[in-house]
Amino acid sequence: MTTDENLAAVVSTSQGDYRVIVGRGVIDEIGPEMSAAGLSGRAFLIADVAMFPTAVHRAHEALERGGFATNVMTLEMNERAKNMDTVLQVYEWLSTHRAERADTVVAMGGGVAGDLVGFVAATWLRGVPVVQVPTSLAAMVDASIGGKVAVNLPVGKNLVGAFHQPKLVLQDVAHLDTLPQREMAGGFAEAIKHGLILDPDLLDTFEKNADEMQSLESDLAVRTIRRSVQIKAEVVSADEFERGDTRVLLNYGHTIGHAIEAVSGYGEYLHGEAVAIGMMAAAGIARRLGMIDQELVDRQRSVLLRYSLPVTVNGVTADALIEATKSDKKSRGGAIRWVLLEGPGRAATRRDVPEELVRDAVEEVIEE
Ligand SMILES: NC(=O)c1ccc[n+]([C@@H]2O[C@H](COP(=O)([O-])OP(=O)(O)OC[C@H]3O[C@@H](n4cnc5c(N)ncnc54)[C@H](O)[C@@H]3O)[C@@H](O)[C@H]2O)c1
Ligand SMILES: [Zn+2]
Repeated sequence: MTTDENLAAVVSTSQGDYRVIVGRGVIDEIGPEMSAAGLSGRAFLIADVAMFPTAVHRAHEALERGGFATNVMTLEMNERAKNMDTVLQVYEWLSTHRAERADTVVAMGGGVAGDLVGFVAATWLRGVPVVQVPTSLAAMVDASIGGKVAVNLPVGKNLVGAFHQPKLVLQDVAHLDTLPQREMAGGFAEAIKHGLILDPDLLDTFEKNADEMQSLESDLAVRTIRRSVQIKAEVVSADEFERGDTRVLLNYGHTIGHAIEAVSGYGEYLHGEAVAIGMMAAAGIARRLGMIDQELVDRQRSVLLRYSLPVTVNGVTADALIEATKSDKKSRGGAIRWVLLEGPGRAATRRDVPEELVRDAVEEVIEE
């Protein structure tokens, strides 16, 4: 097993507890880690083709060395491929190799791979164990933890899915070396969000060490990612099914963020970029409600800019964005539940926000 130094968190859920490991080179330890998690049998490594060949081969070798006879499948993993056709393709492959209940599916790639392969694992033979090996920063600090798995339908994103907790989450920071810069920034948006809503010290760290953070060579960068991961793990452990008041806080910036993605056409802004702009709109709302002062709004803007994130949106109208927030799935059946800052590292939800106030805040993030 890896040293405890690399252990970011133990997530505690109704489907069992699991370790989240974050470190450089930890993929080499996947075999012993899986054994320690109680897994045996064969492994079915299903990887984003973006990780082929080097990272896929290394993972394959590590699995075999750890005693897991392994079959490998690589797939084009993007939002368009995150659908039932791809799921069927994977089922067929698993069936060809006679994958059994005692075998383990390993998902390697960004959030698309994690969600899609996780969904396959949740449904193949009514559920087989899955190990998450996220390779994008967004998937590391967010998607790989918490057991939400899903695929898209033509009518909407993530409409078919399940809660299927992994047995292990193994995050090798070295995988980020090949991640495109823009995707990296998008991941930072979610990581910084964790600081903004729940951890003033984490926010400080992001502010004071922006250059060092983005090199990823430094120990500080790894420790900071680990801390951000820990926050997601704590939130999931406290509120596994998003029934309480905790997990919803992770939606900070997402109401307007989702609206930006929908209105500008999916793909124009990366999810993390849209969330960054959404957080600026939310900060504008909180300031107008007197929950925070202008200083915190400015502080949030500068930290996002330091990580190459956009803070304003182009080519959309306030009307269109506000219309889109109303059809966001989180708001169905009632008023929008806004996640708003109360201070650095502190957030709360509010339902009673007047539309005119929202419009003002939204207009402020639209470029002339
Ligand atoms: N389950 C959850 O709780 C949860 C939470 C947030 C997001 N999501 C889902 O996650 C998805 C977004 O995840 P994402 O941002 O990782 O997108 P993604 O999986 O599309 O990855 C982004 C891009 O980077 C590539 N890539 C990934 N890792 C790489 C690496 N190390 N080197 C080079 N290229 C690499 C991918 O091929 C892709 O082109 C969405 O489908 C979203 O619905 C799920
Ligand atoms: Zn998000």
